[in-house]
Amino acid sequence: MCGIVGAVAQRNVVPILLEGLQRLEYRGYDSAGLVVINNAELLRVRSTGRVRDLSEKSADTKGQIGIAHTRWATHGAPSERNAHPHLSRDLIAVVHNGIIENYELLRSRLIAAGYEFTSDTDTEVITHLVHSYYSQGMSLLAATQAAIVELVGAFAIGVVAADNPDQLICARRGSPLLLGVGIEEHFIASDVSALLPVTRRVVYLEEGDVVQVERLSYQIFDASGNPVQRAVQTSEMSNESVSLGNYRHYMQKEIHEQPQALADTLEVACHGHSLSTGLFGADAAAVFAEVDSVLILACGTSYHAGLVARYWLEEIAGIACTVEVASEYRYRTSVANPRALVVVISQSGETADTQAALNHAKSLGHIHTLAICNVAESALVRLCKLRFLTRAGPEIGVASTKAFTTQLVALFLLTLVLAKQRGRLSAEQEQQHLQSLRHLPLATQHVLTLEPLIATLAEQFANKHHALFLGRGMHYPIALEGALKLKEISYIHAEAYPAGELKHGPLALVDSDMPVISVAPNDALLEKLKSNLQEVRARGGELYVFADADTHIAASEGIHVLQMAEHAGYLSPILHTIPLQLLAYYVALQKGTDVDKPRNLAKSVTVE
Ligand code: M6R
Repeated sequence: MCGIVGAVAQRNVVPILLEGLQRLEYRGYDSAGLVVINNAELLRVRSTGRVRDLSEKSADTKGQIGIAHTRWATHGAPSERNAHPHLSRDLIAVVHNGIIENYELLRSRLIAAGYEFTSDTDTEVITHLVHSYYSQGMSLLAATQAAIVELVGAFAIGVVAADNPDQLICARRGSPLLLGVGIEEHFIASDVSALLPVTRRVVYLEEGDVVQVERLSYQIFDASGNPVQRAVQTSEMSNESVSLGNYRHYMQKEIHEQPQALADTLEVACHGHSLSTGLFGADAAAVFAEVDSVLILACGTSYHAGLVARYWLEEIAGIACTVEVASEYRYRTSVANPRALVVVISQSGETADTQAALNHAKSLGHIHTLAICNVAESALVRLCKLRFLTRAGPEIGVASTKAFTTQLVALFLLTLVLAKQRGRLSAEQEQQHLQSLRHLPLATQHVLTLEPLIATLAEQFANKHHALFLGRGMHYPIALEGALKLKEISYIHAEAYPAGELKHGPLALVDSDMPVISVAPNDALLEKLKSNLQEVRARGGELYVFADADTHIAASEGIHVLQMAEHAGYLSPILHTIPLQLLAYYVALQKGTDVDKPRNLAKSVTVE
């Protein structure tokens, strides 16, 4: 949610800032801006368009120190006046990611002190606060430290002063920020992908850190203001993993990366002859021996992964499982069971609601915590006792695809490990499951061959305004995920229902204008599902059925059947997800939407 880049170098940093912003655009793309210092002056360029518009506008801007920002609006509409950086009296410039909760109070105080506000953002209070201390003679570092003491909320900030062309100050609390270490130059960024063209050597800043960044050195201070050393790490992220290659969109690339992402995620688990509890961390065996239930907390697509896992955990491991939307759980008065394993699932590990839900669970007495996450250095991973890192690689498209399927693999492994620990998995069953998992990347590859057929099918959705998705059992969450993908990137209103629920209300919506998409695996509920599909057809509904080969559902008038391979047992939800991702993608292409950056959304939702 908002991306920050900053640089101090001996060369013109504008191209570095713009390239970094381009790579961070997935975090927010309502507007963008940058500021550099040149001849003791702040040169600011802002644009409500995308980073490419900012590039055009800043063609003549040069400076050897600067900060830049790409925005996802929270306070104040997406407009040029609200775009970052914000300035205070042409002396201080600030970029900010996060939300300042006490900004109204601070704003009134600063207005009374004579500061003029030119935006509707919460960020501008930081700018004037820093100015108020700096103009009293404090160093830029001390002024920033004094300012952030007054802030309630989450922030990652970059600060420069016109009369101090050698220093950039940055700080973080609750929002991610890292320092890039180059050769006689330094950088800051919200995530490492922004810095890959200039350095791979990074310092992941800790909660409360403030850094004085100069061209040849940097000094980190912890939340109490004491100088601290933090390790410099070499990022393994490759430039290729964040570039588009021959694909038209990141979403398409990421859908196609799933066989590899699944293979990478499974690598640690499946290379031996049996599953090890240690996959989830050194303390996992002790923790799993203690737990008597599972509580899953997540948002959006990650929540859907949790919903699938509930079926696996209860059926295979025989362990009670509840799954809650994190933003609801955090405010609900719930009865805590301290023996529950709290599992938080998140691609980014930054999602504010999921973090808050985890903290809430801890405050209720939960001690057994596990993060399933795609970002090793994220806050969520650090907050949990146990961890499983999915190895999906960077996911840039706002619509989550490979993150979801790798989360499902992680949750299936968790199910097997818990089942084994609880004496519910024979050696033979374990081998069978391992074999199915090893086959999964190939099976996924096979599903991807359906792409041309799905692209053709998608043409029939171009003029639709609504769609219904149906599934049953562990494929109901897959229907939910299919509906989320479609609405998120094509803006077609889509709802998902367990197919048996149709006759309790939504059937009233069905007519020839309502496409009904059904996930149809050859499982125990198939015959029931077939009856539900007849109910739709009898009302003139147009059916699009994604059916396993062995379901024997045949195409006929009003029934379009897309044949999948034979039923894949427990792993079927993973395979059935992929055609729905492709469908959403190709419908979005038909509609001409901005697939990777759908309107009003951002990749990491770091605000409440
Ligand atoms: O990073 P997270 O997995 O915590 O993100 C949670 C949701 O914001 C995310 O899954 C969102 O629903 C996706 N954009 C949907 O495609």
